[in-house]
Amino acid sequence: MDADLSSLEDKASLIVGASHWKSRALSEGADTGLVFSDGPHGLRKQEGKEDHLGIAESRSATCFPTASALACSFDPALVERVGAALGKEAKKQHVHVVLGPGVNIKRHPLCGRNFEYYSEDPVVSSVLGSAMVRGLQSAGVAACLKHFAANNQEHARMVSDSVIDERALRELYLAPFERIVHDANPWSVMTAYNRLNGVYCSEHLWLLRDVLRGEWGYDGTIISDWGAMSASVDSVRAGLDLCMPGPRPDHIESITRAVWRGELDEASIDQCVNHLRLLYNRTHQNTHEDGTRRPSRTHQAVAMDQSPQESRADNNSLADDYNEWGITDEENFYRSHADIARLAAAQSAVLLENNGILPINTSNTIAVIGSFARMPRYQGSGSSRINPKFLDNIWYRIEQRGFKATYADGYEPLMGETTEDQLHAAESIAERADVTIVVAGLPDRYESEGFDRKRMIMPHGHVLLIERVCAANPNTIVVLQGGAPMEMPWRKKPAAILLMYLSGCQGGGAAVDILSGDVNPSGKLAETWPERLEDTALGSTYPDMNREVHYRESLYVGYRYYDAVGIEPAYPFGHGLSYTSFLYAGLEASYMAETIDGENPSPTLTVSFDITNTGAAAGSEVAQIYIAPKPGVVPAPCPPQKLVSFTKIPLNPGETHSTRVTLDWVALRHWDSQSQSWKIYPGVYEVRVGASSRDIRLRSNIQVGASTCDNASARLAINTTTAKMNVVGGLDNTEAVSTCAADEIYTLPANGCFRTQKAERAFIELYGRPLPEPKPITPFTIDSTVRDMGVCWLGRRTFRIIDRILAEPSKKLDRIQREMMREMASNMPLRALTTSGVPLSAIEGFVSMLNGHYLTGLIRALRGLVHQRERHERIPTERVP
Ligand code: BGC
Repeated sequence: MDADLSSLEDKASLIVGASHWKSRALSEGADTGLVFSDGPHGLRKQEGKEDHLGIAESRSATCFPTASALACSFDPALVERVGAALGKEAKKQHVHVVLGPGVNIKRHPLCGRNFEYYSEDPVVSSVLGSAMVRGLQSAGVAACLKHFAANNQEHARMVSDSVIDERALRELYLAPFERIVHDANPWSVMTAYNRLNGVYCSEHLWLLRDVLRGEWGYDGTIISDWGAMSASVDSVRAGLDLCMPGPRPDHIESITRAVWRGELDEASIDQCVNHLRLLYNRTHQNTHEDGTRRPSRTHQAVAMDQSPQESRADNNSLADDYNEWGITDEENFYRSHADIARLAAAQSAVLLENNGILPINTSNTIAVIGSFARMPRYQGSGSSRINPKFLDNIWYRIEQRGFKATYADGYEPLMGETTEDQLHAAESIAERADVTIVVAGLPDRYESEGFDRKRMIMPHGHVLLIERVCAANPNTIVVLQGGAPMEMPWRKKPAAILLMYLSGCQGGGAAVDILSGDVNPSGKLAETWPERLEDTALGSTYPDMNREVHYRESLYVGYRYYDAVGIEPAYPFGHGLSYTSFLYAGLEASYMAETIDGENPSPTLTVSFDITNTGAAAGSEVAQIYIAPKPGVVPAPCPPQKLVSFTKIPLNPGETHSTRVTLDWVALRHWDSQSQSWKIYPGVYEVRVGASSRDIRLRSNIQVGASTCDNASARLAINTTTAKMNVVGGLDNTEAVSTCAADEIYTLPANGCFRTQKAERAFIELYGRPLPEPKPITPFTIDSTVRDMGVCWLGRRTFRIIDRILAEPSKKLDRIQREMMREMASNMPLRALTTSGVPLSAIEGFVSMLNGHYLTGLIRALRGLVHQRERHERIPTERVP
């Protein structure tokens, strides 16, 4: 394919960013390239200082509930609506690519970024991730599915190596990406920072070329995470279309030289350019950027009927007033999205406990306690941090409704600490009220992109407050805010617990809608809430401090582990209460083997059942379908059951709905590493229908006949034109893949077994080929981290100098941002300095110096700095004709 551009260098210059958020213009008649912005639950468009950590200001936008909250809605139509609203905001702010959704599996509750991810289960992540992509792209804006793949911890995220056996990789970690590519065709995919089985994802030939493009038939554009690209030529060879951010003159130079030397085929560059052009065309269909734009108006301050002290006006200039979606002015546009955010938050809230106190009698006197009631925890920290246009809170909504209410802080909001005076004040208003609402959870500093949580606990001040208030008034309701599971040793003390997660800019209204009974809660947990950290598969051995992270638990992630080892979680996967009750009846399950006919991925499994609302309130039920193979049917590792589908059904009191779900063969498939194909193992499987993974209401057996689905992934991608590309299997084709002979750890796992040495030995056997070589700290390379440099005196000195340079600017940051920066800086590879404009050759020179070649290294570093400007000048800055 010819990219139709004048010179090799011109073409090479297009496949690296022009700046932090922009690519170069690449099409005839276009005056701009592509504009990117985070993502994933709101827009973070920076127009001044730029960064990928959520530090500098961004334009105001709607902050929707984060993925961990949205997932609990189990409602793809709702998520699609959120995606469409986000897409419209992106369009309005002239953004072409929104960096999201993030569909990485929640491997452990301590991952600092879990709030940005949907679930521990690949089916939930797939269905809701697809919905988000569809919504975004319905507005003509590209989704960027991230982080591909196996990006499951924040510790050392830019250099860690996720070492995963191929079954767990295929069935858990790749599954959401595969399904979303097939079902929703995201126009772009973002490669993760980490290595996967020894190779950086951005240069992973097998992952990008063989699996994503080959097996799944992906035709979209592959973009690196910000600063993820490590080796220029290998990345382009593997199929990375765009290295972000830019400028990276070294990348252009390296690939140009590689073509001259015959080490890289020019056609690879042409392909990247063509993929970028495709992305450009996809995001520029039917838009108003080419002449239909009306002149922009002067900004008017946005009037709000919300609490003025809690809302923020937008100081940015108004976007153009074109009216693509029937919205006549700026305020209504964002207000209608705030309404969607509120609806989404209410539909996603999970009622964990209720002794009947909820919904509250709104004529009662209410004591509202906890700083989060006025200064809500509603989003996470890092690149997804949004500057909300409208921001409400629980106390404001309670006052707005005219409830008879009093308020006490209870604790200090940033650190979550409390004092005897604060506790006293809280107890005293609690004692006098009919009902008490305590708002508590995880403060900002407890979870963030860039580092993992150390423990699963809430601040001591919050726990103390809950216990003291519950003792003062038994009619206490706890409302929880936070992005991930917390230990709740106090959980049997309150009369009710309502989990809001990080519920976005209208979470206050949503919580009050549920507390007051205006909305009947219908959210269910998309991840298990274990009783304590020690109950999790990896306990406090997560995150792994080794650079090579062995995923020893294989498929035993989340409920798959708790079910297998028989641990009772505090709240199981799929749990959530309602103000009404539901009766399940009449399960019929049938399997039609003959529909697997080689080229047709026809439905094979049909499940039907009835649900009746047996209570007095209208409400929705999330019915979940699990498949449980009988022992011995599926080779180990084989968790007892897995979710294969779910459906959310709204029902009026007394109403019955007959549900019929048809599932394709994917529900029953398992990866067979030996034959490198998907297989359906013959035998008896139990079909379970339940209100949660531990509340199974209906069961029925199906008999599955023998059937092997060779090359099945390619058939999943049947709608795409490239589905028939070569399918080359295996993580590393040069290695023989042995049978996954499973140790008993994988056949009969026991509580805590994956933390033992025995598990390490079993994992090596399961992995079935040599483990990736551990990377020694020395000799240093551009992938060495700032922390690694500490082993030599020059590194330590440099570190002290950097520390001193950063001391002044970091004074402007708040504590959480400083903590994030410190953790991220120490785990940052030296090559990441390119994102701050340091030329790669200067970094390479410095690496030589670290390795003891002081003079040659210094000369190289200085030369790199001197030549930087010259190189910049050689890169075309104008549109390529
Ligand atoms: C994050 C991405 C994000 C990008 C741009 C990276 O640090 O991992 O999720 O989209 O920055 O802000």
